[in-house]
Amino acid sequence: MDYSTIEKSSTSTLTIKRPSVEVTPATSRDVPTLAHTYLLAFANNPTALVFSPQYVGVSLEELLRIGVPREINRLRQRIVGPGYSIKATVSTTNERGETVQTVVGFAHWFSPDGTRKRTFWEWFLSTIFYPIYNFLRPVHVPKGVPLLREMMMDQKEQVFGKGAEWEGKKFWHLRLLYVHPDWQGFGISSALLKWGFEKAQETNSPIYLESTRMGLPVYKAKGFKVVAFLPRLICGVHIEAPGMIWEPKLNVKYYICAPNTYPNVFIHH
Ligand SMILES: CC(C)(COP(=O)(O)OP(=O)(O)OC[C@H]1O[C@@H](n2cnc3c(N)ncnc32)[C@H](O)[C@@H]1OP(=O)(O)O)[C@@H](O)C(=O)NCCC(=O)NCCS
Repeated sequence: MDYSTIEKSSTSTLTIKRPSVEVTPATSRDVPTLAHTYLLAFANNPTALVFSPQYVGVSLEELLRIGVPREINRLRQRIVGPGYSIKATVSTTNERGETVQTVVGFAHWFSPDGTRKRTFWEWFLSTIFYPIYNFLRPVHVPKGVPLLREMMMDQKEQVFGKGAEWEGKKFWHLRLLYVHPDWQGFGISSALLKWGFEKAQETNSPIYLESTRMGLPVYKAKGFKVVAFLPRLICGVHIEAPGMIWEPKLNVKYYICAPNTYPNVFIHH
């Protein structure tokens, strides 16, 4: 597979080729793959998995058995909810020379006003159908994704001020990011983050996220700064989740200088 080709250059340094990554909206067809990927990515990440008490201290096999149906439900609702759900797909070549596309990562973003224009069908599914469906099914989701976000935003308001703003600006919120363990270290999350950096730059808004221990060095490498520690009581354990901010770069293309500032240069007699 070309992504793992290791080349030896003339100076004897090793270079690992990055795969080509495509970032597109996630759809309901991606849900089973992404539910697996989510559990595998977070399996070794204690901060994240304590959010679901039933996942603590179980074997990987058991985690997938109990976790996949639950995460499928949550993800279905997330995808039709008000945020932006995006996936990363890599293209590789199999032994027969055919191109194979694999979904290997996911990110969930909320815009500064917390919404995106949705179709009537998406709105219907997320606010009417799935809450009823989840209530009636044995795999019960206690709170919908939009509700969880509201809860988190309430907590942020206590730290950041009214309306959860950073330095007077509402922010993009990276709610979730994960990459399949087999594909970590190949620039997949960089592609999913780039999507958000471009949006934040366009709207001149910061990006906010709460990091796991594993995500911290990655976000720091991408220019996020820790600005707060959010106190959380999860399964009876107090943790402090690092809140991080990325600020858009100043978008100055031209430096306009008024002619009368430098008369000797601009005014020719
Ligand atoms: C955190 C995670 C999303 C990173 O995904 P990834 O695809 O492996 O990350 P990338 O390969 O795109 O690396 C991203 C950047 O971080 C840098 N980086 C990665 N690991 C690093 C480390 N330990 N220290 C410093 N920098 C690091 C890389 O150099 C890269 O920067 P570059 O593009 O400028 O070279 C992935 O490890 C994961 O899914 N972890 C489990 C779930 C999780 O904790 N998610 C975070 C939730 S807040």
